[in-house]
Amino acid sequence: MTGIISRRKMLLGGAAFLGAGISGSLLRGIPATPFTPSVKFLNSALAAIPRPDYMIRASSNENPYGPSQVAREAIAEALVDGNKYLNHGAELLRHLATQENVPEESVAIGSGSGEILCVGGLMASLSPGSVVCPDPTFGGLIGYASDFGTELIRVPVNSNMETDLEAMYKAIRPDTSMVYLCNPNNPIPNLIEKNALRDFVLEVSRDRMVFVDEAYHEFVDDPAYESMMGLVRDGHRNIIISRTASKIHGLAALRVGFAFAHPEHIADINNKMTGQLNIAGARAALASYQDMAFQDYTRQQNRKALDIVEAMCEEMAVPYIKSHANFTFIHTGRDIDEVSAAMREAGILIGRPFPPFRDWARVSMAKPEEMAYFAQVYKALYS
Ligand SMILES: Cc1ncc(COP(=O)(O)O)c(C=O)c1O
Repeated sequence: MTGIISRRKMLLGGAAFLGAGISGSLLRGIPATPFTPSVKFLNSALAAIPRPDYMIRASSNENPYGPSQVAREAIAEALVDGNKYLNHGAELLRHLATQENVPEESVAIGSGSGEILCVGGLMASLSPGSVVCPDPTFGGLIGYASDFGTELIRVPVNSNMETDLEAMYKAIRPDTSMVYLCNPNNPIPNLIEKNALRDFVLEVSRDRMVFVDEAYHEFVDDPAYESMMGLVRDGHRNIIISRTASKIHGLAALRVGFAFAHPEHIADINNKMTGQLNIAGARAALASYQDMAFQDYTRQQNRKALDIVEAMCEEMAVPYIKSHANFTFIHTGRDIDEVSAAMREAGILIGRPFPPFRDWARVSMAKPEEMAYFAQVYKALYS
C-alpha cells in the first residue's frame, strides 16, 4: 500500500508532466477535471508514462487554448455593460459582413452555430417532408428536424468514407425540403471537392434549401476546398452557410455562431431564433476575429498535434482519415466503448460512438504535448 501511495505521489501532479519537458502554460487557464488514476492503472505499464494530473479533453473538438488573450480582455471589459439591453451584436455583424464581403443583411448571429442549425432544422420541418444528409454527419440540424417530424434520408458515405454527392442527389425526393452538408464533415474530417460541391449546391438549391455547415472552415488548408460563401455573395437563394466562433476562436462556452444567406432567408432565420446573443460572447468574438495571431497559433498547434497522431497511425499501420479540421478519425479495429474506456482509465477523454463506424475513434486535437501522451498510451495499449 505504501508503495502505491508513494508511487502515486511521485506520478501525480503537473510536476511529473513538467519533468518530461512540457510547458507550464499547459496547466494554466482552463479549469480541468482532475485525473485520479485507479490502482489498476498504477499497476499497469501505462503508469510509467509521464502524464498530466487532469483529464485530457480529446472528445469535443474544442480549442485547447481557450479564448485568446485579447478575447479574455474583451470579456472582462464587456461586463461593465452587463446590465444593459444593448444591440451588442451590431459591430460583430458588421465585422463579419466586411470580412466575408457580403451585405450586413446576409448575416445573422445565433447562440452558437447550434442555434442556426436548429433554426435550419425548424425551417426544413415546417412543411411535411424529408431532409437528405450524409451518414455519419453532425447531428444538430438533422436531430432538430427529426424531432419536429421530418423524415431523415441518411445517405451513407462512400467506400472512401467521403460524402457521396451523387448518391445524395439520387436520394432527393419531391418532398425533400432541405439537403444538409457538413464541409469538412464531422466525425469524418474529410472534404467535399469544391467543383463537385458548387455544382451540387447550385443544382439542388433551385428547388429546395441547401444548408452547408462550415464549422471547421478556418482549419482547412487544401486547394480542393472552397467555402460556398461565394454563392451567397453572388446573391443565390436557398443556400444557408453556418460558421462558428466555437472552434478556431475557442469560444465554445460563450455561444456565438453565424448564418450567411440571402437577406430574405436571414430575415426568416432571425424571426425563428429563440436565443439571444450575450454581450461577453459578442465582444469576445469581435476581438477574436481580429486576432489573426491567435488564429495562426491555433492552426499551427493543431497541425503539430495532428502530425503526432498521424505519425503514430503510420508507425502502427492504423488506417486514419487525413484531417482538415481539429480532430481525426482512426480505425482502431476495436469497439469504441472499449477504446474510450481504456483511454479514460489513462486520463484521456475521446469521442463517442459514431455508428456504423463503431470500430473507429474520433480523437479531437488537444495540445501537442497532450497528444504525445495520447500516442504513447495508444501504442502501449495496442502495439
Ligand atoms: C459540424 C459542426 N457544426 C456545428 C457545431 C456546433 O457548434 P457551436 O454550436 O458551438 O457553434 C459543431 C460542434 O461540434 C460541429 O462539429
